[in-house]
Amino acid sequence: MHNDIAEVLHHETTILSRLDAMARDIMRDYKDKPLTVVAILNGGLILMADLLRRVQLPLKIETVSVASYHGGTESSGTVTFNQSRLPDLSGQHVILLDDILDSGRTLHAIRERFAAECHPESMRICVLLRKLKERSCAVSSDYTGFDIGDEFVVGYGLDYMGRYRNLPYIGVLKPEAIAAPTTP
Ligand code: IMP
Ligand code: MG
Repeated sequence: MHNDIAEVLHHETTILSRLDAMARDIMRDYKDKPLTVVAILNGGLILMADLLRRVQLPLKIETVSVASYHGGTESSGTVTFNQSRLPDLSGQHVILLDDILDSGRTLHAIRERFAAECHPESMRICVLLRKLKERSCAVSSDYTGFDIGDEFVVGYGLDYMGRYRNLPYIGVLKPEAIAAPTTP
């Protein structure tokens, strides 16, 4: 797995200390407010576990499962909800949590659907990574771990064809690993 990585962008220690700061910002903003954090699966899984254990507030956790990538390194453009039951968010201040803000389609689609069907009090967006590029949908993040260039990265929740999510750091894949994945 590690052999497929050309360059490490952010090491685990750097990520975790950034999460400490993000958690402090969230605690400051949501003290005394009913907070539900909705993690977007599967990419938001690792961030959810590490970030929310640092947030010392009586929050609730929900998940939503969507697919917007179908195997490659380019977004498909359509966002499919893998579940029919959405969380009831009435009266709740909500943070949507995802691994990365890329084209913006995923977070845009979830935010629109939640606004129409789940009745949250407010909604904000938190991502570990924000790609600096022009987005297809107007979405901005309220809490951001790191800004990165427009390149394909893996690790810390981010996958290529379902793999590499469990890398503890964020790295750039070698071109040969994209061309021919070594792991069966
Ligand atoms: P969107 O283009 O903002 O809708 O991003 C959709 C999803 O694409 C994200 O939640 C990620 O799961 C995935 N994605 C976007 N960029 C990358 C990347 O560089 N590596 C791995 N997954 C990515
Ligand atoms: Mg994903």
